[in-house]
Amino acid sequence: MNEIRVGIVGLGRLGKAHATNIAQNVPGAKLVAACSFVEDELEYAKRELGVTETYTSYEEMVDSPNLDAVCIVSPSGYHPEQIRLAMKKGLHVFSEKPIGLDIEDIEKTMEVIQAYPEQVFQLGFMRRYDESYQYAKRMVDEGALGELTVIRCYGIDPSSGMEGFVKFAQSSYSGGLFSDMSIHDIDLVRWFSQKEISRVWAMGKNAAYPELDDLNELETGAAMMQLEDKTMAILVAGRNAAHGYHVETELIGTKGMLRVASAPEKNLVTIFDENGVVRPTSQNFPERFRDAFVNEMKEFISCIKEKRRPEVGAIDGLQSTKVAIACQQSVETNQIVEVK
Ligand code: NAI
Repeated sequence: MNEIRVGIVGLGRLGKAHATNIAQNVPGAKLVAACSFVEDELEYAKRELGVTETYTSYEEMVDSPNLDAVCIVSPSGYHPEQIRLAMKKGLHVFSEKPIGLDIEDIEKTMEVIQAYPEQVFQLGFMRRYDESYQYAKRMVDEGALGELTVIRCYGIDPSSGMEGFVKFAQSSYSGGLFSDMSIHDIDLVRWFSQKEISRVWAMGKNAAYPELDDLNELETGAAMMQLEDKTMAILVAGRNAAHGYHVETELIGTKGMLRVASAPEKNLVTIFDENGVVRPTSQNFPERFRDAFVNEMKEFISCIKEKRRPEVGAIDGLQSTKVAIACQQSVETNQIVEVK
């Protein structure tokens, strides 16, 4: 099969990273088209990434006869409609998380995805393609930890990202802390346990950035969850880690426990100086998950070429968003919420 010709929508904080990967780091893929509202971003795509077609209208991009696939990295509320449109145009679709922000809209989208089984659909839960998470997953699947009892997840953005986040949240609704951030942790809980989440109790607090109240956003949130087999999960999500980008996962089982990135180390360097013994930390998601973003895109392209289905599909999007919405409701009502 020839190169898979990809069009990307969204060239913002994450879109640029995906665009660069498709253009330069994923063999067998070619970045042909790009769509954004921002003219400078389109110029960048032409100049730096060799994109030949640029659009300010997504509808026009998916009409191009030169595309095999799209990569959707637009704000979350647009995902369902853009997925549906691309599927109906006969294109393979990679969409960033979350799959959508509204359950009915997601269910409608799933129906469309299911109507085109020959076309690949993959969702951007890139942590599943991170080497350390894959190692941990193999241990769990081989029974090295015994039966899982507790899963603890931290997903906290760096304080340095707050300015960028406020702009992002002002221009389009993120879906709230749980749909925007914890969705990755919710997916990990489902992936590791292979169980669904039954009920949640969540809460939040805006301490360092009370201005987030005006945006209806949370700076820090926590959730307690019960899975269908009584396994417990504890999530902490936030946007205010002073030391960097803190993504940490702990799995506790009957025979042992493991932690992925108990300190979010940037690399293997340890510095000994007037500050003491210092381990530099990873500062943002493109840095921490650089390889995972490349790996997930390689998988998308391989699935198209080999006519395979990726592991992360629409059902993972639907289930994780249901849980995230339940968390948001729990914060608002201060009640335990059943996930239906
Ligand atoms: P951003 O706000 O930085 O960029 C949005 C981009 O979409 C811009 O290029 C803008 O011109 C374009 N755009 C907006 N509306 C559009 C429309 N209707 N048609 C065409 N283009 C449109 O957003 P960011 O942070 O890059 O996030 C994008 C998506 O990626 C979100 O859904 C977010 O949840 C997801 N994301 C996922 C991450 C992960 O860890 N997997 C990390 C960061 C973001």
